[in-house]
Amino acid sequence: MDARICPSILSADFANLERDLQLIATADYAHVDVMDNHFVPNLTLGLPVVERLAQICPVPIDAHLMIEDPDRWAPAYAEAGAASVTFHAEAATAPVRLARELRRLGSRAGLALRPATPIEPFIDLLSEVDMVLIMTVEPGFGGQSFIDGTLAKISRTREAIRLSGLDVWVQVDGGVSRSTIDRAAEAGANVFVAGSAVYGAADIPGEIAALRSMAGAH
Ligand code: DX5
Ligand code: ZN
Repeated sequence: MDARICPSILSADFANLERDLQLIATADYAHVDVMDNHFVPNLTLGLPVVERLAQICPVPIDAHLMIEDPDRWAPAYAEAGAASVTFHAEAATAPVRLARELRRLGSRAGLALRPATPIEPFIDLLSEVDMVLIMTVEPGFGGQSFIDGTLAKISRTREAIRLSGLDVWVQVDGGVSRSTIDRAAEAGANVFVAGSAVYGAADIPGEIAALRSMAGAH
């Protein structure tokens, strides 16, 4: 399966974002974590920053919204130029209406699940989204360790997609590195977010290539 690598700029230098985006020009997407200090206990960046980053980023932007009330706020990220906008199932009031609105605005629509949120209630709605993001850590911070207990959910999600015949991507985010990417890929993930593993590497393009080839071997 084709593996897509999305370095998370949460681990980049926020004083040098343009430089650090150029460092990941060989990646598939730049993963941008939007946190509002309510849905998660951390605050990062918002709409005006994403809008400007979309203008200078060498690869498309994959916005991961860890915010309350995405029904109200998420469409503006599609309008700001994010190629993919992912909102959390736990925060959305009307996920199907929101996903349809994101697609209408020309963005891919992603549905994110915290580690304790099951995929089963959403299985009949898979045709409404382009990607399911299975969080492999509790959202909020980079540098946490991968939760192996999420692997079964990745497998169940991949199996449901296979049975549906749809082309929905399965993304994993949190603790993804050379030591965990194999397990996630084997379970059925095909899109991989990696923050500290990529930006902590001495050779960033080399790390992106290594992760892509390890994940693509499945
Ligand atoms: C965490 C964020 C992640 C984070 C991943 O809530 O959604 O995207 O940057 O960082 P690592 O890869 O260091 O676990
Ligand atoms: Zn993220």
